[in-house]
Amino acid sequence: GCICLLICSLPSLSDFLFGSSLCLSARLFVTRAQLLSLVVSSPTFLIWFGPTPRLTVAEPELIREIFLTRADAFDRYEAHPVVRQLEGDGLVSLHGDKWALHRRVLGDAFYPDNLNRLVPHVVKSVAALAEKWREMAAADGSGEVEVDVAEWFQEVTEEAITRATFGGSYNDGRVVFGMQSQLMAFASEAFRKVLVPGYRFMPTKKNWLSWKLDRGIRRNLTKLIGRRSEEAAAVEAAEGEKADTGSFRDLLGLMINASQRTTRAKAIPVHDMVEECKTFFFAGKQTTTNLLTWATVLLAMHPEWQERARREVLDVCGSDDPSKEHLPRLKTLGMIINETLRLYPPAVATIRRAKADVRLSDGCMIPRDMELLIPIMAIHHDARYWGQDAAQFNPARFAGGAARAAKHPLAFIPFGLGSRMCVGQNLARLEAKLTMAILLQRFEIRASPNYVHAPTVLMLLYPQYGAPLIFRPLASQPSENHRTSPR
Ligand code: HEM
Repeated sequence: GCICLLICSLPSLSDFLFGSSLCLSARLFVTRAQLLSLVVSSPTFLIWFGPTPRLTVAEPELIREIFLTRADAFDRYEAHPVVRQLEGDGLVSLHGDKWALHRRVLGDAFYPDNLNRLVPHVVKSVAALAEKWREMAAADGSGEVEVDVAEWFQEVTEEAITRATFGGSYNDGRVVFGMQSQLMAFASEAFRKVLVPGYRFMPTKKNWLSWKLDRGIRRNLTKLIGRRSEEAAAVEAAEGEKADTGSFRDLLGLMINASQRTTRAKAIPVHDMVEECKTFFFAGKQTTTNLLTWATVLLAMHPEWQERARREVLDVCGSDDPSKEHLPRLKTLGMIINETLRLYPPAVATIRRAKADVRLSDGCMIPRDMELLIPIMAIHHDARYWGQDAAQFNPARFAGGAARAAKHPLAFIPFGLGSRMCVGQNLARLEAKLTMAILLQRFEIRASPNYVHAPTVLMLLYPQYGAPLIFRPLASQPSENHRTSPR
């Protein structure tokens, strides 16, 4: 019951931030009993979000219309300025031609051939984490170590998104994203409390620090873009079209190159590049941390699946570090990751706004400007599509692929649907597979007695009291000699 209330009251990827405060106003208009009766009686119902009515649509056929067949009639929901400042004015919030240009340019980074070039980097950072845990376990008399994976996985995902965004300028990028990380920590702390309108303009100590960090991020990024642009121009003048060097084509480089090869009208200005970098950090780090966290928690809770996945990893990779050739063969891990995304989708809902009056095929009239809330998590738990064991962890349901796992192919939408579908989903899956494979090769994992299972929503779905798990190093460890060295 509680989870329905949460899911239904919560807005999109970016607007989740306001969950805590606006939920209060939503509750003034709809009592819990009214809401639950609505949830039970129909998958389509209206909820007041403060002064704004929102139609909740949890019917896959209607979702098809909203995201695919009649997508032109709907737009992404516009986040509050506070959230936009944090998430950046990039792909997530752009519209029309500007969105199309950015999506085309940035989408190039996420093709499998290019993403595969990140594999050795991700492997290196996960292996370093595993090595630290092994040393901690060895230093402890028990021979095992308890770690809060929700905290530790941040290192892996921050490294991956920094590489994806800045590639060769990794060290400069790290400084910038380090500042953004701090900014997000402040924001997340503030949003745990009740939001006071206008408070963000008050010169409090935290606000001063946030403004300073924001200025620092912009200054550093602008400098970096200037330097990279000069380098790219010099290379282009010397060699014409830049040859494929075999290294990862990073987001910043793609934007700079696109701007140099086009008319001024179609170039991406420096200000917009800065915003995109912020957006990708915001959209790509915490979402993936949550996926890694829930997947590891589920492996700890289900030793039979943990063992099955470990056997597969050892069959496919032996004691070598996982490589791009291994990834497609890790099928059980793929199923476990999908089942994790079904049960605990990091983005629990998304929102659309009608651009004009639209009548949906069920006869429902949607007036212009009406907001539609798509409760991703509720759809993932709907027994009509997933059967009576919808609440159970059963990766086997994904054995025939994601589209065939449920009775309706659109009952599984952890990354959204249609043209605005998550651009980074392949990167998130790659990080998850590599991380799970490396940990399974090295450790037996179980939940700590200190673990409290309390999924909650603040922006995203995360474990309210962290995810303390116990890692016991396995007797045979992958050999150091096999370690792939990143380019
Ligand atoms: C498990 C991890 C992730 C989940 C669950 C997730 C979820 C989503 C969802 C549901 C959307 C669509 C929102 C909507 O339609 O309103 C989305 C969009 C987006 N995601 Fe992800 N995401 C993840 C990882 C990533 C990563 C790693 C990146 C960046 C590298 C990323 C970047 C984006 C961007 C830029 C958009 C906006 C796309 C557009 O509007 O064209 N996401 N994500």
